[in-house]
Amino acid sequence: MTRFTCLWFWCAFLVLSVVPQWIQYPPDGHATMTHYTMPSNYIAACGCTTDSEKYPTAAMSQYAFGSSTSYGPGCGRCFNLTLLNTFMSNPPFYPSVTKSVVVKVTDLCPLGGAGWCSATANKPNAGGAYINFDLMYPSSAIPDNFFPSNASYYGYTDFGVWNVSYQAVSCTEWSGYKNAAALGSVTSLGSGACCPANPTDSTNDTCPSYSQQNGIPPDTHTNWAYPTSIPYISWLSVLGGLFLSL
Ligand SMILES: *[C@@H]1O[C@H](CO)[C@@H](O)[C@H](O)[C@H]1NC(C)=O
Ligand SMILES: *[C@@H]1O[C@H](CO)[C@@H](O)[C@H](O)[C@H]1NC(C)=O
Ligand SMILES: *[C@@H]1O[C@H](CO)[C@@H](O)[C@H](O)[C@H]1NC(C)=O
Ligand SMILES: *[C@@H]1O[C@H](CO)[C@@H](O)[C@H](O)[C@H]1NC(C)=O
Repeated sequence: MTRFTCLWFWCAFLVLSVVPQWIQYPPDGHATMTHYTMPSNYIAACGCTTDSEKYPTAAMSQYAFGSSTSYGPGCGRCFNLTLLNTFMSNPPFYPSVTKSVVVKVTDLCPLGGAGWCSATANKPNAGGAYINFDLMYPSSAIPDNFFPSNASYYGYTDFGVWNVSYQAVSCTEWSGYKNAAALGSVTSLGSGACCPANPTDSTNDTCPSYSQQNGIPPDTHTNWAYPTSIPYISWLSVLGGLFLSL
């Protein structure tokens, strides 16, 4: 009986250790923001219409996005992002002006690379944030002087990464909301795309996790130099299970 209980716990641990620990984030808080360029008319992970790119869009870090490939519950959501300060520069830069932009999430920012999108549920990124918004920029929808700078002091204008505050907002606040062509998914991808016009968290109008639906485990491979917790938990539970079943 004892032996059975231990084996049962071992199995439960093993199952838990492969279930994606997607990040459940509050509707407002702090995040980091980077930026990336997207070729025009490119269809990003959510499969949103290419007209959406005529308005401010962003990719969201994988574990907050909620899928390791294709669409996820982050797709279509809108956030008001406000630039607070830089922190990789020496010294940090606190602009005197406050700039905000309302973005729609159209893309996945995968784990790896410089690590800004590599936060997991128990490990923030190097800015202490659990969410990174990778802003599509330059963009015809965002002024070229959107990012404040102080070139005479720093000798460069692009700080690369910013500390921002975010607020989940209704997509009716997004500048693309008035253009029907900028809303919804491309038809050519069929059920492989999911880009709600204004997701509300209800399962009726919010994308499910493509990874979870298709049994794809979270891709915890990252170039970032820290051990991810998931393989660590697996090894612990394997060792614990072996120990308990002896
Ligand atoms: C976005 O945040 C800024 C700064 O808090 C605020 O002034 C602005 O009204 C907000 N915009 C929306 C659409 O919520
Ligand atoms: C981001 O801003 C918040 C609010 O000012 C602050 O508490 C936090 O330390 C800042 N984070 C970084 C990495 O600068
Ligand atoms: C640039 O930074 C220097 C040093 O912090 C400061 O004295 C100057 O006022 C800043 N200029 C602008 C435009 O922010
Ligand atoms: C979702 O849609 C179903 C069927 O149309 C409806 O019965 C249900 O109330 C909806 N749920 C929410 C939370 O809107």
